[in-house]
Amino acid sequence: MGWCCCITWLWSILAIGLGVALFEFFSRKKRDLKGKHVLVTGGSSGIGLSVALDVAARGASVTLVARDVDKLEKAQVEIATVISRVASGGYVQYFSGDLSGDPEKIASIVKDAEVDLGPIYMLVNCAGFARAQTFEDIPPWLVKQLMDVNYTGSFIITQEAVRSMKRQHEGVVVFTSSQAGLIGLYGFTAYSAAKAALVRLAEALHMEVKPYNITVTVCYPPDTDTPGFEEENQTKPVETKLMSETAGLLKPEEVAKKLVDDALIGSFTSTVGLEGFMLTTLCAGMGPITDAFSFLTQVFLFGIFRAVSAFYLWSFNKIVDKEYRKRQACKKSE
Ligand SMILES: NC(=O)c1ccc[n+]([C@@H]2O[C@H](COP(=O)([O-])OP(=O)(O)OC[C@H]3O[C@@H](n4cnc5c(N)ncnc54)[C@H](OP(=O)(O)O)[C@@H]3O)[C@@H](O)[C@H]2O)c1
Repeated sequence: MGWCCCITWLWSILAIGLGVALFEFFSRKKRDLKGKHVLVTGGSSGIGLSVALDVAARGASVTLVARDVDKLEKAQVEIATVISRVASGGYVQYFSGDLSGDPEKIASIVKDAEVDLGPIYMLVNCAGFARAQTFEDIPPWLVKQLMDVNYTGSFIITQEAVRSMKRQHEGVVVFTSSQAGLIGLYGFTAYSAAKAALVRLAEALHMEVKPYNITVTVCYPPDTDTPGFEEENQTKPVETKLMSETAGLLKPEEVAKKLVDDALIGSFTSTVGLEGFMLTTLCAGMGPITDAFSFLTQVFLFGIFRAVSAFYLWSFNKIVDKEYRKRQACKKSE
């Protein structure tokens, strides 16, 4: 009888906790972008361009940062059309710059961007690229470039933007990692490491800027149909291709909408789809707790997801083994 009572109490407490968490999760207030200034690095293509179009449709003014001026001009025209359709009175400008270049030049982009459009309210770090090659094949200059663009460039431009946000006592920072930043996959020794480094940077920054009313979000896109993804596929080892094929391909608009929605409610992670949910739940570790619902799902689903991960790892290792055997057989027959 005593045990029965205890279990009933435990279940009641759990049900109430989950109810409160669900209520809190769905009633979270989304911040408004009307009249705000959003800077998007990598905003001339793929996920970054979709983010820029999305925030423009929500009434923001937009600054784009990338290298290729032709692509920037085309993106500017596309975004200007959205701005005039929603009649927000917003504006779109661009700055051409290399995020793997001179740190002082990168930092000065933020100052220049604020001259006409005012303080940056939201910074979305989307500039980046992926290359998959086996560990011994990837040239050292490419390892450095992957780190410089994906990690260091994001670090430096965020540093300058956060200085400005701290003065305003508000802001939203987004880093674009990758599902490959949560799991070390075949062919991604350099890329996975650069994207994982962004996660630790975001966790530490989240703790530093919380008192200043600045939120930090990390987005983990799955494979997304963009020009960057098309280029990445040119050199991808067959093993990496076969592993990523299991997850399907998303549209950049879907990833961008989820990224902006999650960032505006201050969620620390942003993912699309069941695999992203499973991976971020599994890898939550000591990451920030930004809502009770996600925290509870992490507490209760970790064990189950760890068991499911064994199946994924088994199938990935099977692919590696099969391709290895094929290569060995080819060598022997030559
Ligand atoms: N697509 C996917 O499947 C996928 C999956 C996971 C994560 N991601 C991440 O999502 C982000 C966007 O990827 P995407 O697929 O949308 O790529 P994308 O279509 O190639 O767009 C990349 C953007 O970044 C800019 N960029 C690249 N290198 C730069 C540099 N050194 N300095 C300044 N700007 C630079 C590009 O413009 P310029 O070339 O003109 O500079 C472009 O605007 C990347 O961080 C990527 O790693 C993508």
